[in-house]
Amino acid sequence: MESWTINKLLVWIHQYLKDKGIESPRLHAELLLSNILGLKRIELYTQHDKQVSKQDLDKLHVLVKRAGLHEPIAYLVGKTEFYSLEIEVSKDCLIPRPETELLVQRAIEFLRMRDGIQSVCDLCTGSGCIAVAIAKNFPQANLIATDISDQALLIAARNTEKFNLQNRIKLLSGDLFDPVIPQLDTGKFDLIVSNPPYVSNIEYEKLDKNVKDHEPQIALLAGHDGLDIYKRIIEKVDTFLKPNAALILEIGYAQGKTVYELLDKTNVFSEIRIDRDSQNNDRIVTAIKQHSL
Ligand SMILES: C[S@@+](CC[C@H](N)C(=O)[O-])C[C@H]1O[C@@H](n2cnc3c(N)ncnc32)[C@H](O)[C@@H]1O
Repeated sequence: MESWTINKLLVWIHQYLKDKGIESPRLHAELLLSNILGLKRIELYTQHDKQVSKQDLDKLHVLVKRAGLHEPIAYLVGKTEFYSLEIEVSKDCLIPRPETELLVQRAIEFLRMRDGIQSVCDLCTGSGCIAVAIAKNFPQANLIATDISDQALLIAARNTEKFNLQNRIKLLSGDLFDPVIPQLDTGKFDLIVSNPPYVSNIEYEKLDKNVKDHEPQIALLAGHDGLDIYKRIIEKVDTFLKPNAALILEIGYAQGKTVYELLDKTNVFSEIRIDRDSQNNDRIVTAIKQHSL
C-alpha cells in the first residue's frame, strides 16, 4: 500500500485545492493537516517525514473533499483566530472576521478611559467572539451578550467556558434588547457594542458562494437595505446607555453616511465618529452619549 508522509500530503492537498480554485491552498492544506494530526503548523515541517495513519488519512480525505466544495476552513476545523484568541465556531454562527477586531480595539480603548467596573452589552453576539475578546483584554468589564439564535448561543457558551469567563459574560437569548431588563440585569450600560446582520437583499444574492451557501442567513441579512437591525438598535439604545456611555457598531462599507444620520437624528449623542478598516472602507461607528441626558 502507498505510504503517505506529511510532506507528500501537503503537496497533494495543496494541488487538489488549487485545482478547485480555493484561495490560499497551501494555508488551507496546512490547517487541515495540522488539525487532523493535532500538530502545530510549524510541526508539519519539523516532522515532514512522519507517516500518517490510515485512520487519519480517512478523516483527512473527508475534510479535503469538503474544502474543495468551498466549505469555509473555519467550519471544517471548528475554530478560527480572532483578536489572537482561538474561538470555536460551527455552521450555527458567523465566522468572526478580521474587520471586527477594529470594533474590539475601539471598545477596549473606550473602556480604558473610564474608572471602575464597566458594564458592557454585546448585541448579536454569535460565537461570542467580541464579548470574549473584550472580557479577556479588559478584566474590569462585566458583559451581557444576546443573540436570537439559541444554536449560536451554544457556541458562545463554549467560548466563554473555554476562557473561563462564565462569571463575567451572561448570555441571554432573544431579540436585540428584549432579554435585557435594565434594573434586573445591570442598571444601564457603559458601553453597547454590536456587529449585527447588515447585508441587503441585493448584496446577499451577490455574496461569495462560501459565505452564502454555508454561513447562517440570520447572521447576515437585514432587510431590503441592510439597515433593519441598526434602526431597531438605535431606536431603543438611549434607554440602555448611561450618560457619557458609548455605542460602537460595525457597519457595511457603504452604510457610514446613513448610519451616521440615523444616530444624529436621535439627538442622544454628542459625538459620532466613523473609523475605516485596513481596506480603507467605513467600518466602525462610535457614538458617545451626551453628558446631561
Ligand atoms: C453578523 S453576526 C455577528 C456575530 C458576532 N458578533 C461576530 O462579530 O462575529 C450577527 C448575529 O446576530 C444574530 N441576530 C440576528 N438577528 C438578531 C436579532 N433580532 N436579535 C439578536 N440577535 C440577532 C445572529 O444570530 C448572528 O449571530
